[in-house]
Amino acid sequence: MITIKTPAEQDALRASGKILASVVNVLMDMVQPGITLNELEAAASDFIKKTDAVPAFKGYKGYQNILCTSVNEEVVHCPPTDRVLQDGDIISIDAGVVYNELYSDCAVTVPVGNISTEAEQLIKITRESLYEKAVQEIQPGKYTGDIGAAIQEYVEGAGFSIVKSLVGHGIGKQLHEEPSIPNYGSRGKGVQLKPGMAIAIEPMVNIGGEDVVFESDGWRVVTTDQSLSAHFEHTFLITETGNEIITQL
Ligand code: MF3
Ligand code: CO
Repeated sequence: MITIKTPAEQDALRASGKILASVVNVLMDMVQPGITLNELEAAASDFIKKTDAVPAFKGYKGYQNILCTSVNEEVVHCPPTDRVLQDGDIISIDAGVVYNELYSDCAVTVPVGNISTEAEQLIKITRESLYEKAVQEIQPGKYTGDIGAAIQEYVEGAGFSIVKSLVGHGIGKQLHEEPSIPNYGSRGKGVQLKPGMAIAIEPMVNIGGEDVVFESDGWRVVTTDQSLSAHFEHTFLITETGNEIITQL
């Protein structure tokens, strides 16, 4: 079911996203060579405890952590471990919170120390596909296919691959609501956007091929060819005139 958020729900969504953005900002600033993924998880836990929100992923379908911390060829959904981040790594930090029953969902990919030019380009193109291209398509009257097409054209035009087996989603009183929003597609196809809808858009982009492996733990997703992968995500509210970035960093 596609839900239209009431004004009160929209306010709760905004508050949820504001808290989440502050969590993600804190974590991004901590990323440096020598820090462990579990240290990021602990910081997220400490920070969220001081807010009126609760972590969204912990307990979701049995997931045991607050964050997904996916490094290098890891695409998404990797639980934090004792792994120590090394100079030259890239890390995707994905987090969600619930405030007043409303979910928000946000991810960024950041460099660890000095990274290769190729890795820098991967992060830049993935970020821009969301922050500059997809964002322009998130308006009432446009279609989910317009969003996917804009991301796909930009990413493939830059020579990278879109992961197609994982998609963006509606969001609200559940983390994942309808519609599903692929990061590829055709303009004018899919679901038409309406004011009051909330959506999470999350391009996942590989340097190499688009194929990914779903590991047997039920969570970890990695590139089949071991090439680097980047991931950005924002939660958006569709307004009468365009959109609001709910998780603005
Ligand atoms: N941003 C991720 C997604 O929408 C968050 C889910 S992680 C999970 O798929 F652990 F909660 F599943
Ligand atoms: Co999501």
